[in-house]
Amino acid sequence: MTYRIAVLPGDGIGVEVVPQALRVLEKIGQKYGFSFEFTEALIGGAAIDATGHPLPAETLALCQNSDAVFLGAIGGPKWDSLPVHLRPEGAALLPLRKHLGLYANIRPCRTFSALIDASTLKREVIEGTELLVMRELTGGLYFGEKKRETMENGERAIDTLVYTTEEVERIVRLAFEAARKRRGEVCSVDKANVLESSRLWRETTNRIAADYPDVTLTHMYVDNCAMQLVRYPKQFDVIVTENMFGDILTDQASMLSGSLGMLPSASIGGQVALYEPAHGSAPDIAGQKKANPLATILSAAMMLEYSFNQVEAAREIEKAVDTVLNKGYRTGDIMEAEKTLVNTEEMTDRVLEELA
Ligand code: NAD
Ligand code: IPM
Ligand code: MN
Repeated sequence: MTYRIAVLPGDGIGVEVVPQALRVLEKIGQKYGFSFEFTEALIGGAAIDATGHPLPAETLALCQNSDAVFLGAIGGPKWDSLPVHLRPEGAALLPLRKHLGLYANIRPCRTFSALIDASTLKREVIEGTELLVMRELTGGLYFGEKKRETMENGERAIDTLVYTTEEVERIVRLAFEAARKRRGEVCSVDKANVLESSRLWRETTNRIAADYPDVTLTHMYVDNCAMQLVRYPKQFDVIVTENMFGDILTDQASMLSGSLGMLPSASIGGQVALYEPAHGSAPDIAGQKKANPLATILSAAMMLEYSFNQVEAAREIEKAVDTVLNKGYRTGDIMEAEKTLVNTEEMTDRVLEELA
């Protein structure tokens, strides 16, 4: 079996971590009897510099004709002042997600036993955390109408938060399905005390819940959820929430596992799924070989599981990551006293050794 993967390293540490994850994929493929055809394409700032646009037509076509898309990160200070129709975020990543119909972004957040003391949070608070955020990815504030208007005393800027019943239904169903394979608990996070879109979200969620009598549904306001995530994260099994709430809550939740550099993601819902670490291009450490490749390597494991049903291979990668951490290897973001500091490539070497 050969899987055809569109590889989009992008910008900043994206170009450092993606090749490392590909090494891991090659290795696990050899072991389990499958292979990959990796085709690289430009996206983000790198694509702007080379072609003038952050999402070239060839890149989109390649993604649509692949078995899966594997992305690093996009964006950086160099492209921050471009007009919105040319920015890596708004003109490449968001349209790519939309074109591929990837309405569900799955971000599993668990503690790694070796990293519990690397977290800024207390051991007793985070130990045993195993939650999954199902973030809506192609609606909400990100995709509603945006406007700038000139006023007498300056300007007015408008972003619109829109959700349809159908958009809420499909993501909420996925959350219930995911919960069925876990502890059977869904916490729907909204701001229904203020937002009309959240009231539609909550009504729809309650209606869908009738189809899943075996799953327990609770609702929580997003501000409370931000607090509960650091107060008592073990209370959560599956969190389902709208696009921007999910974006913010998952960066926060990543610290339960020790670092944003540990949080993988899968974006699903269309024909071709996309896998990427939850973090960005990290301009502050780009080019210094400091990036933690594990979020990207764990995203590769998610690809094997979700797109190719290679569950055993996925588990083996996850186990290798655990072992490497248990042996004390650390990139800077998860470094502690008396551990062994390694760079991006060395961390991957250690993972490959465990897979040997
Ligand atoms: P970021 O996620 O790039 O970095 C936030 C902090 O986390 C930084 O201090 C960074 O060094 C650290 N960090 C992130 N990943 C790490 C890793 N693997 N190893 C070690 N440390 C890591 O967020 P930001 O700085 O707010 O954004 C930088 C750029 O990335 C912006 O242009 C933003 O739009 C873009 N971005 C892209 C994506 C994406 O491509 N999916 C996601 C988030 C941000
Ligand atoms: C992410 C990023 C993106 C998002 C940005 C870069 C558009 O923060 O993947 O979490 O907000 O979805
Ligand atoms: Mn984000």
